[in-house]
Formats: sequence, structure tokens, C-alpha cells
Amino acid sequence: MTDFSALFQPGNIGSLRLENRIVMPAMASQLPEPDGRLSERLLDYYRARAEGGVGLIIPAYAGVSADAPLMFNMALSDDSWVEDWSRLIDVIHSYGVKVGVQLMHVGMLYLFAGFVPQGITMKVPSEMPWLSDDIPYQVLNHEDIERYIDDFGQTSRRAKEAGADLIEIHSCHGSLAGMFMSPITNRRTDDYGGSAENRVRFPRRIVERIRKEVGSYLPILIRINGSDDLDGGITIEEAAQHAVMLESAGADAISVSRGIEFWATTTIPSYLYPNGSMLSLVDGIKKAVLVPVMAAGKITPELAQEVVADGRADFVALGRPLLADPELPNKLRQGRADEIRRCIYCMNCLSFEAAMGGGSCSVNPYLNLESQYPPKAASPVKEVMIVGGGLAGLQTALILVERGHHVTIYEKDAELGGQWNIARAVNDKEDFVNLLHFLKQSLDKYEVEIYMGVEVTKAKVIEAKPDAVVIATGAVPAVLDVPGFQRKNVVQALDVISGKIKPEGRIVVFGGRYTALETALMLAEQSKDVSVVTRAAFGLTLERVTFRTLLKRLIDLRVPMYPNTAVLEIVEKHVVMRYNGEVLELSADTVVLAVGMRSENRLAQELEGIVPEVYAVGDCVKPRNAASVAYQAAQVAAKI
Ligand SMILES: Cc1cc2nc3c(=O)[nH]c(=O)nc-3n(C[C@H](O)[C@H](O)[C@H](O)COP(=O)(O)OP(=O)(O)OC[C@H]3O[C@@H](n4cnc5c(N)ncnc54)[C@H](O)[C@@H]3O)c2cc1C
Ligand SMILES: Cc1cc2nc3c(=O)[nH]c(=O)nc-3n(C[C@H](O)[C@H](O)[C@H](O)COP(=O)(O)O)c2cc1C
Ligand code: SF4
Repeated sequence: MTDFSALFQPGNIGSLRLENRIVMPAMASQLPEPDGRLSERLLDYYRARAEGGVGLIIPAYAGVSADAPLMFNMALSDDSWVEDWSRLIDVIHSYGVKVGVQLMHVGMLYLFAGFVPQGITMKVPSEMPWLSDDIPYQVLNHEDIERYIDDFGQTSRRAKEAGADLIEIHSCHGSLAGMFMSPITNRRTDDYGGSAENRVRFPRRIVERIRKEVGSYLPILIRINGSDDLDGGITIEEAAQHAVMLESAGADAISVSRGIEFWATTTIPSYLYPNGSMLSLVDGIKKAVLVPVMAAGKITPELAQEVVADGRADFVALGRPLLADPELPNKLRQGRADEIRRCIYCMNCLSFEAAMGGGSCSVNPYLNLESQYPPKAASPVKEVMIVGGGLAGLQTALILVERGHHVTIYEKDAELGGQWNIARAVNDKEDFVNLLHFLKQSLDKYEVEIYMGVEVTKAKVIEAKPDAVVIATGAVPAVLDVPGFQRKNVVQALDVISGKIKPEGRIVVFGGRYTALETALMLAEQSKDVSVVTRAAFGLTLERVTFRTLLKRLIDLRVPMYPNTAVLEIVEKHVVMRYNGEVLELSADTVVLAVGMRSENRLAQELEGIVPEVYAVGDCVKPRNAASVAYQAAQVAAKI
């Protein structure tokens, strides 16, 4: 059994004693009301994490200035917000967990959020070539600077009144304080720009102002970039100097992050980055300061233990791991690490679907639906037949057995997992297998009967006479209905990913979403001659961080990409397409189709009205992602 004892040693930030070293860092969500006010759902969300045994929770940021609002943001920019914060802090405190309030002026993070609210100007330290009147902006003068420093001070007073145990200053990622620190976003020539010392002046004065406001009573943590991850931006050498200056200004701890969001893709590292992707920066800061240092970024429980035990960091921020499993700290402490629903860094929690409330986490069906957990005990207990052993069938089966139903799973293939077995064969997605392991292992614990290699038909269902049937028959690759699509040189991306087909010569991939981009990248990384063609723009509605990472890698490998291009015909050695109004031929020895999936829902239709309860779940209803599958599994399981 792995030793996690280092994580459960108490630790101090200033005078604040934390019971353990695990911190839930700030993570914005759509859970507050649209105007930012506290909602019951947000309380439930934090209650679950507090109950799970984390040492410190830093709820998503408190906006400090009324002229920099953001939707769904629980601001603290005037006294009317204190009551909401006080209620939230009281709930977290009731579990013995400490609370840090993150103070932030949003700065250019509007761009990452995707829009600037009507009537608002984005506040920036200086003019920059990329600023345009399309995004209304305002360069700050000395008077503005004084006002914003005061806003941080006033907000820290309100946080203290609301019961905060710690103040965190957001000074990274492209927030206003972070923009002042970076030579990319701060090109001022006065005493707030130029040298590192001048660029740190704004956050340094914020630290001093907050200290004046809250006295020595509340510790101050400041979150900074260990690197901007952009040419000409903050490097680790400079970040170490920043940390020293902020420490001498009175900061009690430094939290290390990275990347200017909107440009860099490293702030919330996806599966495309290695575990512990910020640790080299943490090492650089740790060497420079005496105050405690907090690490974040794809830290697994095992790595967290190692990092704290080796003294590389004093605290570890586990963001998405706590979204995936709020009980993670308690499970580690109680020797139940094998029961953890491990984050697979798939980024679905940042997807369009998540924002729309249609499934937030691939491994935790109850993320953002905490009031529905644990699901109610079954009454009456039913015999439930599950057709399909992909993620949808397995997720639904697990919730049903947890509720007390009797469940039998039928899978026509020799292996459980369905499309997930292909999804996880894509480069860098090796850890996706953890989700499958978790589901299989949990179902094994309940001794769920699983019949492999059995294709369920309407007759089989009638013969089995279940009380309820869940159809989870998934989806199969779609084809492109153009002349020539049945030629021998046209293959499916899924067969390329799984290694069944190894295309040679000049390869053209059709499609503009993940599977197309990932297949093209996989082939380009094998030094194949590949290009990508899509009917619309690339990456429409895809989660932006992952999309931009893939796009950059494709561009770096010089993969030609043709957006808004209609394929007219596939012939032996080329495809005919309309590009920019011109009909062109693109050489192609192999055409790879990645044009989406088609639901396999025949059985669901055949059984309608034949058995008492029939439900469909997952891709057989509509092709989707794993988080939408998990969400729908919970909704369907609740009905049975
Ligand atoms: C290449 C690729 C990459 C992907 N990448 C991601 C990603 O990065 N992130 C993400 O969130 N999602 C991703 N997805 C989507 C995700 O894998 C699917 O949304 C999810 O796996 C669908 O699960 P499912 O159980 O609904 O369907 P399926 O996985 O299709 O499972 C259906 C199962 O039912 C079985 N079955 C069918 N008919 C019968 C029958 N009559 N009797 C018995 N068994 C039957 C099938 O054999 C299959 O095992 C990817 C998909 C692909 C193909
Ligand atoms: C949905 C989401 C929202 C986030 N919002 C914030 C935020 O408001 N403030 C902040 O400092 N970091 C924010 N982050 C970054 C996290 O605090 C954390 O540093 C990052 O997710 C890396 O840690 P992890 O790999 O453990 O998730 C956010 C991350 C996610 C996933
Ligand atoms: S959606 Fe994916 S990245 Fe987000 S918490 Fe869940 S498993 Fe982790």
C-alpha cells in the first residue's frame, strides 16, 4: 500500500495551521447564479469537497472591482457580497476545513472567458499590438492604479469580515496583477513598467495594502506564474526574483502556476502534458524563498506524496482531482486509494457541454450535481438488463448496483469498454484506461454478472424478461456520402488509431473535430505525409485549451489544413474539393474518414412497448463525450 503520510502532516501558512497538505485551488464554475450570487448548488459543491477531508479550500475567485464583472462570478467588490461569502465560509468551516479567498481583478482573462460584458472596458497596464477597438480597453493611469490597489485592500477587509482564514492574491494567468508582472503584457515606461522590480510594484503594493487592512491576523498567499510559456515572457529565473520581492513585501506563501491563459495552454494542463508539469518551476521558486510554496498542475496522489515528502513543495493544490473525486483526501488517509475516481485530465469539465449543464466530468457523474449524490436506494429492487459494455453501460450499471438493483451486463465484443478502447489508443491518452479500470473493479466488487461475446437481440430480451432494459449500444463511425467513398483507399480513423490499418503515401484526413486532429497528429508524428480537410472551421465547439494545443502541434509539424472545404469526389490518387471557391485536386493515396459517429439505436426502437421499462443511454442516443455519457447514466439510473 502506498504511503501517503506526508500529505497528512499538519502545516502552517503564516499563523494559519492546516490539518493536511492538500489544497483545493480556485476553480471557476457556472454554479453561482448568473449575477454571481451564492446558489444552493454552489454550497453543495463546496460542502462535498469540505466533507471529503481537504485541508484548505480556495473557492473560485472574488472579483475586487465593480467595473470588472464576470458572469457567474461571486464577487466581493462591495459590502453587499459579504453575507454570501460568510454563508459559504460557514458551510466549509462546519467540516473543520479552512478557507482562503482569492482576490482577483480579471484583467485580460475576459479573453479566455470568451467575451467582455456589454458596457465594460478591459483594463490593461499598457498599449499592446494585439489590442484593437473590437475589444474595448483602457490603459490604466496612476489614479486608476491607486483605486485598484485600494479595491484589493477593501475586498480583503470584506473577506476577513466574512470569516476567511487566508487571502490569496491572483497575480498570474493574465489577471490584472499578473499582466503588470509580465513583460509581454506590461510595456509601461513609468515606475510600474520596465524592470522586474517595477513590474512587481503593483502586486507588491497590493500585498502591502492588504497587510495594512487585515493586520498580521490573516496570512497572504500570492499566486504567480513560474513561467508565462511565451517568448519574451516571464521565465523561471525572473519568477524567482518576483517571489523574493513579494516575500519581502509580506507574502506568507507563494503558489506557483504557469501560462498566460488565452495564449498559452499550460495553465490547466490537459492529457497532452506530462504529470507534474509545473514542478520544475516550483523547484525554482522553492530554492529562492523561505516561505511555504504551493504546487499545482496534474499532480497525482502518489506524486503529491513524493513532492511533499521530498520537500519540493509544502502544499499541493489538487484541482481537477478533487472535481473527479471530492472524497480523495479521506480515501487516501483511510488506505482506500484504489477506490479513488482518478482524474484523467480529459478537459471535459471545461467543455461547452459542461458549461451548458449537460455533463461536467467523465469520471464523476455527480460533478455540479452534488445534491443528487448519493443516489437514492432502489425501491422496489429490479432486475435490470444492460445491453452494451461501453462507458454508458458500465457507468449506468455501477450506479444501479450502488442503489441496490440486480444488474446483468451483456457485451457483444470480447472486451469491455467499447469506443473508449480506441479513444485511449490515441497518443497521450494512455491514462484514460484508469476510468475503465475503476468501473470494472467497482462492478467486480458488487459481483455484477457480465456476459461477454453475447449480442443481444429483441428475442433475447423478451426471453430474459427483465424488469427494465438499458440500451447502451453506442455508435459506429459515420461515412461521407460523396462519390467514391466506398473505394478501397478510403478507411476509417478508428481503424488507423487502433493500428488495424497503417496508411501509407499521401494521406488526407477528413474532419474538423478531435478524432480528425488527433489522427492527423498521430500520423504526422510518425513522419507521414498528411493533410486535413474539413467542411467548416476546425474545432468548432471544441474545448479551447485542448483544441489550441492540438492545433499548435499540427502547425509545428507543418500539417496542411484546409478549413471550409467541400469534398466533391474521391478518386484513386486524389480527392476533388472546393477550396476558396476554386475546384482543386489534392493528392491522396489514402483517405481517412473522421467525420463523426452514427448512433446505433435499432434495438432501443425495436423494444419500445415490448418490455415494461426501456431506457437508452450514451452514444446510442446521440454521439457525445464521456462526461455527457456519465451525466446521462446518472439521470437514467435515477429513473429505475
Ligand atoms: C477515437 C475516439 C476518441 C475519443 N476521444 C474522446 C475523448 O478524448 N474524450 C471523451 O470524452 N470522449 C471521447 N470519445 C467519445 C467516447 O469514447 C464515447 O462518447 C463513449 O465511449 C461512448 O460510450 P457508449 O457506451 O455510449 O458507446 P460505445 O463505446 O460505442 O459502447 C457500446 C457498446 O455496446 C456494445 N453493443 C452494441 N450492440 C450490442 C448488442 N446488441 N449486444 C451487446 N452489446 C452490444 C458494443 O460492442 C460496445 O462495446 C472518443 C471516441 C472515439 C471513437
Ligand atoms: C474549471 C477550472 C477553473 C479554474 N479557475 C481558476 C480560477 O478562478 N483561479 C485560478 O487561480 N485558477 C483557476 N484554475 C486553475 C486551477 O486552480 C489549477 O491551478 C489547475 O487546474 C491545475 O491544477 P490541476 O491539474 O490539479 O487541476 C481553474 C481550473 C479549472 C479546471
Ligand atoms: S472532466 Fe476530465 S479533466 Fe475534468 S475533472 Fe473530470 S476527469 Fe478530470
